[in-house]
Amino acid sequence: MLSVIHQPHELQALLNERKRQGASIGFVPTMGALHDGHASLIEKSWNENDVTVCSIFVNPTQFNNPDDFLHYPKTIEQDTQLLQEAGCDYLFLPTSETMYPTGTPRTRFDFGALETVMEGAFRAGHFNGVGIIVSKLLHLVQPDKAYFGLKDLQQYLVVKQLVADLGFPVQIIGCPIIRDEDGLAMSSRNKRLTATQRAIAPLLYKALQKAESLLATKDFGQIQEEVAALLATEPSFKLEYFEIADGQTLESIKHYSPEKSIALCIAAFLGDVRLIDNILIEK
Ligand code: PAJ
Repeated sequence: MLSVIHQPHELQALLNERKRQGASIGFVPTMGALHDGHASLIEKSWNENDVTVCSIFVNPTQFNNPDDFLHYPKTIEQDTQLLQEAGCDYLFLPTSETMYPTGTPRTRFDFGALETVMEGAFRAGHFNGVGIIVSKLLHLVQPDKAYFGLKDLQQYLVVKQLVADLGFPVQIIGCPIIRDEDGLAMSSRNKRLTATQRAIAPLLYKALQKAESLLATKDFGQIQEEVAALLATEPSFKLEYFEIADGQTLESIKHYSPEKSIALCIAAFLGDVRLIDNILIEK
């Protein structure tokens, strides 16, 4: 049975009791508008822990674009249903006032090289906001394991670094990208696409697959050009970046090496909806 909790102290009291009884806690932080990608994280947590906690909080401090924040989809009734079916025990549903009682936090994170590229470069302050909210939520829930999707590869790596650097007693688990049948990575923002845009959107993943197929044989500069050219066949796509990067540090790489893990990462606007995707080739 899913319990919905709004107050941090109430959540802490309930979880402390469960921990006292020896239960392990799995945690899945989200911003809602849940889909099967989120459900896969909940199900993994359900399989690996006694208690699963999910949070839904559209965190204002991680949005660099006020319009994106304003239009972020909200589907709380369907979300509750999905969580119930996926086996979630507690849904934590705080407000901005409960999460930020002292106003906008003044403390800032610097994630070094990890945040100067890709999402960090194009979304100023985004990872600082993610770092703040993830830290606050981890302090509150104190889970044994926390689950993050590889859909947001850079976020996963930032959180892993944060937890390692500050010694948070939690294991961060990366979970595979869940896609629609036509290859489009599931995302809450897909709900904002028009029918025409939705039909075009799978081209983003096709571009990544094309890049992957060329990795071992073509010059990386040429791959960049081919990806840009493929995306340009649909003029409503505006490519923001396509990067071939080290799968652990996300540093840009120039040459193929079969023993290195490689991340192919892409971001593009389709109308005013920003989509990201990646293929991680692990070694
Ligand atoms: P949100 O975008 O709601 O995503 C919550 C979690 O679901 C993230 O770890 C994300 O990577 C994962 N996820 C999203 N789409 C996925 C897919 N198609 N397959 C697998 N996993 C997927 O990411 C955030 O929220 C926020 O930044 C948050 C971490 C909650 C901090 O506010």
